[in-house]
Amino acid sequence: MIPFVDLPARHRPLARTYAQLFLQTVSAGSFILGKRVSDFETAFARTIKTRFAIGVSNGTDALTVSLRALSIGPGDEVIIPDFTFISTAFAVLLVGATPVLTDIDPHTLTMDPRNVKRAITRRTKAIIPVHLYGVPADMDSLCAIAFRHHIAVIEDAAQALGSTYKTKTAGSIGDIGCFSFYPSKNIGALGDAGAITTNNPAIARRIRTMINIGSDKKYLHTMLGGNNRLDALQASFLLAQLPRLRAWNAARRAHAALYTSLLRDLPITLPPSISGYISNMHLFVIRTNKRTPLKKHLAKHGIETGIHYPYALHDQPSLAGLGYAPGQFPVSHQAAREVLSLPMYPELTKLQIHTVARAVRSYFHL
Ligand SMILES: Cc1ncc(COP(=O)(O)O)c(C=O)c1O
Repeated sequence: MIPFVDLPARHRPLARTYAQLFLQTVSAGSFILGKRVSDFETAFARTIKTRFAIGVSNGTDALTVSLRALSIGPGDEVIIPDFTFISTAFAVLLVGATPVLTDIDPHTLTMDPRNVKRAITRRTKAIIPVHLYGVPADMDSLCAIAFRHHIAVIEDAAQALGSTYKTKTAGSIGDIGCFSFYPSKNIGALGDAGAITTNNPAIARRIRTMINIGSDKKYLHTMLGGNNRLDALQASFLLAQLPRLRAWNAARRAHAALYTSLLRDLPITLPPSISGYISNMHLFVIRTNKRTPLKKHLAKHGIETGIHYPYALHDQPSLAGLGYAPGQFPVSHQAAREVLSLPMYPELTKLQIHTVARAVRSYFHL
């Protein structure tokens, strides 16, 4: 049996460290904000190469708070790709604004600048490129469009921790970067957690206050805000993982290279390889119009796979109110039918990758 993710394998070598951190946190009795959170924020900002990082409760809140910090709300439009995890759209709806869906680029499956250009109106306040699977969106083109139209760029870098676009780190390119540390991400909390990055001191200050129930001085609340803080305990677990990120991502990339060499001649589409784009290989996603039978075949061989995602946003029942027609965005509609995520995590062995590749090949009688 080859699992799709193997979180126990990731955490086993760190379990003793976590236990010590837990005991230290309990002894200190400091659970909210404080040194644990600020130490993590400092280290995370250094990792992403931004001036500021603010720990938050999860990736969905990171997006929602970022939109609020930019005063985006009712009457405003935010352009997003039609193929992403639902939180990208829900965050926009949760602040009362309207998500404007756009079809994706057929090669990278990320936001297509040509479609963004067409979707801009007088109400557009921001765009949210998503670095899907860890593959950076075309940030030069997207930032140029945003700059020309005076609109903000919020990067949904939830899946892209450690990805780089040309000389820049994902999450440091737009006005704001949003991260998730959902357990299966490239570093993961033992629960929920997230972070926001920015180089803008005014935005950083606003976000810091907003996530702390609108307060930066005890019992004085200067603005409306929720409780979207990162737990001190989670911050300490994340900080313990951070030094391993580079090696973990390198292992993922080596696994991706091996998969690619073993599957290259098959009638499937492999993840894109673009000069200047370095994916953190959060997911290794192949595309095939035989997705369902191939998934079944792999399951029969004891290989777990995932589908990210089986529905384009415009086909989601919860977004029907936006008024898009079924199948309106052909590229994302097709992607939702074809994508299949193979097992991908640093702890995978070469033997396991060969086993997966052999099973995929056997489906195609090769
Ligand atoms: C692209 C994307 N955006 C947003 C999120 C939301 O993050 P969270 O699950 O931490 O709320 C996720 C991950 O789950 C994601 O993959």
